[in-house]
Amino acid sequence: MAISSTKDVPNTSATPEHVAIIMDGNGRWASQRFLPRTAGHAKGVQSVRRAVETCGNAGVRYLTLFAFSSENWRRPADEVSLLMRLFVQALEREVSRLQEQGVRLRVVGDLSPFEPKLQELILQAQESTAQNDALHLTIAANYGGRWDILQATRRMLAAHPELAAHPDQLDEQLLSNYLSMAWAPEPDLFIRTGGEQRISNFLIWQLAYTELFFTDCYWPDFGEAELRQAFDWYSTRERRFGRTSAQVYGSAKT
Ligand code: IPE
Ligand code: IPE
Ligand code: MG
Repeated sequence: MAISSTKDVPNTSATPEHVAIIMDGNGRWASQRFLPRTAGHAKGVQSVRRAVETCGNAGVRYLTLFAFSSENWRRPADEVSLLMRLFVQALEREVSRLQEQGVRLRVVGDLSPFEPKLQELILQAQESTAQNDALHLTIAANYGGRWDILQATRRMLAAHPELAAHPDQLDEQLLSNYLSMAWAPEPDLFIRTGGEQRISNFLIWQLAYTELFFTDCYWPDFGEAELRQAFDWYSTRERRFGRTSAQVYGSAKT
């Protein structure tokens, strides 16, 4: 069952257990080099590989990457189709590496608009890595935080039709159990590359008490050193979850 950070104070440690990243800046990385935007996306795949490796080595248990938002369909058709092709390619080429590293892969989001081949590859990759436990890698694809809350509400009401007549019985914990990442703790550290300081409809429910790290570095340039810098910054944060600093210090001593 998911622990809600606004209901209970979760245990935390110097290394984040769950890291969630908005991988932004691929297009600008490419434009700076007079390359098509799509070259930035292709280059970005290497950063994904590095992030998985670095997180695995650092002892991070959950890594969640925002690959395609529910709003990204608004982009030019050729860019969208290149992104889909890269997704297919990555699934075809990278799953054996994930397997070797003990990585369990999951994809969250509304997968129904994806072409059947992509949906099939996603299912296969999820199944074939289902026994792995070293690192839980989640790719958010056609994902939107608002979609997630809505789909959770729909599924919860379908399972508990009595709630419609007794809405007072609905609580945060129950709804959280239907979110698409209910099996994971809420993110400890959020990273957004590319300079923008916004959430862009990522895990809006789950980020309630997450530490937010923004960097100007474009995603294709984001490597091990940059990720370690974010971890170092995270280790200096005092996570109060509504308490006073003295309380945090006191509880840390007990
Ligand atoms: C992030 O990079 C990748 C996706 C959204 C798929 P962008 O493509 O948003 O790059 P910029 O922000 O235009 O530089
Ligand atoms: C957010 O990036 C989504 C992903 C990285 C997948 P965008 O580049 O689409 O976000 P906005 O439009 O700048 O907010
Ligand atoms: Mg962007």
